[in-house]
Amino acid sequence: MTNIPWIEKYRPQTVDELLGSDSLRELIRGFIRKRDIPHLLFSGPPSTGKTTTALILGRAFYGDSLAGNFLELNASDERGIDTIREKVKEFAKTIPNNDVGFKIVFLDEADALTTDAQQALRRMMEVYSQHTRFILSCNYINRIIPPIQSRVAIIKFSPIPTDQIHRLVDKIVEREQIDIDDRAKEELIEIARDDLRKIITILQSAHYASNGRKIDTKTIESISGKVSTDRAKEIITLIIQGKRDEARDRTISMLDEGNDPEEIIQAILRAIDSSNLPSLDESRKIEMIRKISEYHYRITQGANPYIQLIAMIIDIGS
Ligand SMILES: Nc1ncnc2c1ncn2[C@@H]1O[C@H](COP(=O)(O)OP(=O)(O)OP(=O)(O)O)[C@@H](O)[C@H]1O
Ligand SMILES: [Mg+2]
Repeated sequence: MTNIPWIEKYRPQTVDELLGSDSLRELIRGFIRKRDIPHLLFSGPPSTGKTTTALILGRAFYGDSLAGNFLELNASDERGIDTIREKVKEFAKTIPNNDVGFKIVFLDEADALTTDAQQALRRMMEVYSQHTRFILSCNYINRIIPPIQSRVAIIKFSPIPTDQIHRLVDKIVEREQIDIDDRAKEELIEIARDDLRKIITILQSAHYASNGRKIDTKTIESISGKVSTDRAKEIITLIIQGKRDEARDRTISMLDEGNDPEEIIQAILRAIDSSNLPSLDESRKIEMIRKISEYHYRITQGANPYIQLIAMIIDIGS
């Protein structure tokens, strides 16, 4: 199985492998020890381990008989609440064939359901609660109606700390025997900020694309479709040195290469944020960020991104 996507290959199978906070791992261990869970709502940003944790619980409770006891549904895939209701009804009508005493319905992306659909879901949670536990997951908890929130234990998932991401990347690099330079590794983690799924996916693509050559920041840049922080740093350095025209020309050539203005802005923000820039004091930093946010806002409001970006470079240089 060489072609299995690394996000699956490196998806944790046990609580011990799960990255994130100690308290989260302790909580999950507690459920497994007690062999019981209340209805749960996992809430947090993408790729922080919500689906992974639901699967870990399922595997811990049911082992090899996961299939008959764990139903995974995706609220945004299914054709509406009626389909979900039918599937849950079908699944829940047989007595659990396990020693835990309940089956699990895992409803991913519950925040994609309309309010009416969530009302129907709430009733389902009550009707089937004797032999079924619901685990819901969402990115935005404010989109979950209060009656559901009050019927579940809410577990918050936070972005994985950067040092843990570094360790995982190092582990994958070693296992897969990837040839990558340190700066490219940094860039990969900076570019995909907090999004572990993206980090792993870019790493796998870069490995395949590099064809045995050492992966450098250019490879990461072209695979991710992102602008490298290094290039943005060069622009900021020119600005600090008062070489505004040169900074503008660099920006124009980046645009001419087809880079998305939004990506250039993100890279510039990362560059300003990174600590090793010479002689950029805190107040100048804040002033730059304030100006950038204004130009960014204008772009989101429909102003021409090309013109705004060039104006922005001139403005933060003055
Ligand atoms: N806490 C974590 N520990 C280790 N790996 C993780 C963790 N979170 C995410 N990953 C990695 O990212 C991939 C995606 O994680 P997962 O599917 O659990 O995200 P999610 O929180 O359900 O995201 P979404 O909101 O997009 O559904 C996993 O296969 C795994 O490789
Ligand atoms: Mg998920």
